[in-house]
Amino acid sequence: MDAIQTLIQEHRLILRVVEALESYAEQVDRERQVARDEVADFVSFLAEFVDLCHHGKEENVLFAALADAGFPTTSGPLAVMRTDHDRGRRLVRRIRELSEKAEAWDEADFESFAGLARAYADLLRDHIRREDEVLYPMAEEHLSRAQQRHVEELFRLFEEQREAGRRHERLHGLAERLIERHGRAGADREPASRRSRPVPNCCGL
Ligand SMILES: [Fe+2]
Repeated sequence: MDAIQTLIQEHRLILRVVEALESYAEQVDRERQVARDEVADFVSFLAEFVDLCHHGKEENVLFAALADAGFPTTSGPLAVMRTDHDRGRRLVRRIRELSEKAEAWDEADFESFAGLARAYADLLRDHIRREDEVLYPMAEEHLSRAQQRHVEELFRLFEEQREAGRRHERLHGLAERLIERHGRAGADREPASRRSRPVPNCCGL
């Protein structure tokens, strides 16, 4: 699978987990009850799979290749995508703080979690749509086949350096469990063949 297809496959999994997060946050807000471990599991997937693995490959490899090909880094699509990633990191950090809060959640915490989950879901949906529809086609158009193969190779090295094989297995299992427990219409909209397919080449597997 080529580099861009790998990223697109990862987007599909990310969107399903994001939908599960949004659904769980709505339930927590409605019932005023939270399982901190469950929030911590979402945070683990968002921080490790979405940010370290997926955004890490984009920023360190794909965006770098596009910058080498002449695309500006302080304006245009690369700058916008990095800003989105930073916003996502800040939101996940705030969700992590809530999950680690020593005291029991108060009213403001329940509302805060729901708001953060909604903001993260809105951000990621919009961000992923722009990457799928604008950034990735731009990469496919402007990077030569040789450059795209080089990106593929660098993805592999990026994942290897992070000893990501075992991490991938754990995170993929975590994602499926979260989707199973909290996913709603999203799971039904996905064809069964796609639901059961692991993300190939993600995190080194
Ligand atoms: Fe992405």
